[in-house]
Amino acid sequence: MGFGPNLNRRQFLAQAGLLTAGALLPTRFALAQMQKIRIGLMLPYTGTYAQLGVAITNGFKLAVAERGGKLAGREIEYFTVDDESEPAKAPENTNKLVQRDRVDVLVGTVHSGVQMGMVKIAKEAGTLMIIPNAGLDAATGALCAPNIFRTSFSNWQPSYPMGKVLADRGVKNVVTLAWKYGAGEEATAGFSEGFIKAGGKSVRGLWVPFPNVEFQALLTEIASIKPDAVFVFFAGGGAAKFIKDYAAAGLRKQIPLFGSGFLTDGVLDAVDDAAQGIETTLHYGDGLDTKRDRDFRSAYSKAYKSDPDVYAVQGYDAALLLAVGVNAAKGDITKKKEMIAAMEKAKIDSPRGTWTMSKAHNPIQDIYLRKVVGRENKVIGVAHKALADPARGCKM
Ligand code: BEZ
Repeated sequence: MGFGPNLNRRQFLAQAGLLTAGALLPTRFALAQMQKIRIGLMLPYTGTYAQLGVAITNGFKLAVAERGGKLAGREIEYFTVDDESEPAKAPENTNKLVQRDRVDVLVGTVHSGVQMGMVKIAKEAGTLMIIPNAGLDAATGALCAPNIFRTSFSNWQPSYPMGKVLADRGVKNVVTLAWKYGAGEEATAGFSEGFIKAGGKSVRGLWVPFPNVEFQALLTEIASIKPDAVFVFFAGGGAAKFIKDYAAAGLRKQIPLFGSGFLTDGVLDAVDDAAQGIETTLHYGDGLDTKRDRDFRSAYSKAYKSDPDVYAVQGYDAALLLAVGVNAAKGDITKKKEMIAAMEKAKIDSPRGTWTMSKAHNPIQDIYLRKVVGRENKVIGVAHKALADPARGCKM
């Protein structure tokens, strides 16, 4: 049967008033496809970790921009909250994104204490969350959950290999110094575990409250203890201050200083020569000399007129991981199971080197040994190949 000149079936029915209003409406799937994906960035934009939050944001947005500003054809809308690295405000800040802004995905954060608050809410609400820095061991340990992924590290992970590096060099007695909160406690515990297991003799822990940068009394104490080496956890603005104070106290040439790589990443321009020779362990470094890293570094520098650091890489990889999930669901992010299954199997082609996801949703990755030379954290070896966090207490 024909429908008249130049009319197809749908046009004919519509003209005749026979097509119901419902039938003219786009399907629910088509409607969802037209909506933007709502991404909540909860990161520190003020305080000692402000620079870290900015680098993560830049890295994430760069990866999205490289995909034409879209994931699986869907545009992205960002909602941003400055968490101030303030654990007490974490529940309120997370709920701004989850309840008020109804984000589809939470990306955050930097500080382990704030992360603890975010994990609790994301678990309850079932919101997909990607952690682009905070090392809180429990996030992919005792509190692990199907909707929680990390693209950075556990606090244990970059510190544990440095224990063996020092023990193998014959170091016997170490003083550790860190901010007294989750990240400092877990990073120094990871170091001590690796050190004692590999033959180290004793570790004495010193602490300073977060985010204090009054190090003088502690430096005097270290000078009087005279350990073979010092291992520290500091990051951001506090790390820069510590490196300068350590050198100014005259300790640099007396007692070698080591740390997880957060000590020297992103701070070298701020410390002049005070960091020269400091060795650290981390999952990224300068001079990896791969095309992937060179391309990333040049795109980042072009976009932001600054050099990328480990935080930028972690933010970048958070978007790469999300892209894997959204592509698997063909843009339909209500298909959480499909997204999660794809993200669990993801092989991330990262500037740091290719990494895969552990069962507990934490990267299995190489930990590099780096040394500060000039303005670079030069990679001088691999301290531990394909290291997986032990994921203690994770039942998933
Ligand atoms: C943390 O709180 O987990 C953290 C903060 C900065 C650098 C590394 C870890």
